[in-house]
Amino acid sequence: MRCAAILVAAGSGVRMGAGLPKALMPLGGRPLLAWAADVLMNSPAVEMLVVVGPPGHEAEVFAALGDGDAEVAVVPGGESRSHSVALGLEAVPPGVEYVLVHDAARPLIAPALIPAVLEGIADADGAIAAAPLADTPKRVDAEREITETPGREGLWLAQTPQAFRAEVLREAVMHAAELGRLHDATDCASLVEGVGGRVRVVPNAAPNMKVTTPSDVRIAELLLGERDAG
Ligand code: C5P
Repeated sequence: MRCAAILVAAGSGVRMGAGLPKALMPLGGRPLLAWAADVLMNSPAVEMLVVVGPPGHEAEVFAALGDGDAEVAVVPGGESRSHSVALGLEAVPPGVEYVLVHDAARPLIAPALIPAVLEGIADADGAIAAAPLADTPKRVDAEREITETPGREGLWLAQTPQAFRAEVLREAVMHAAELGRLHDATDCASLVEGVGGRVRVVPNAAPNMKVTTPSDVRIAELLLGERDAG
């Protein structure tokens, strides 16, 4: 098998305050995770989809999934995003060449981004969707006083999907776990960087917001509505 996708959907959604796991919260009439799952399951580049869901909600996760060509597995997630990725990786069979990881919280993923990040790997170990900074970044101290204004040049914001050579991602996860640092990593690229892996960015100008707050839900619904109308 060439490529398996892991959809991490096990976050609690505390910032959303919905009272149910964020990935199962309704967005545009469907559970949030269904939007990205649809794109992944129907991508010609993806042969298997592992959905890492909120523990105890596996049946609801299965029920939320639409039709697609990829083989599907649902597994319970862990204490942090990276722990959930590690648990998803355990369900990826040996022999898979590439693993692509995507946040269920990004429902707007453009189908073209999947082959774009896979091709972006080329001779490197991984490639991730990313966007250049639009705002001016500031470093501040504990008193919230600005200590530095790093130049915008060369700074990018990491998104998902993020794709890697499967054996490099497995090694990176194992290495971080051995050091007790698995929970600190907020994306997979940083894990791979931690073992000296080479990861490229693939510029993505299309909307690919992470749904975090209730107002994000409204914005994502508007953008999905526009996309489906066009
Ligand atoms: O918490 P954060 O916004 O970084 O979450 C990004 C993605 O990781 C979300 O899709 C969320 O469901 C997932 N996640 C997970 N397991 C966790 C925490 C987050 O699968 N323990």
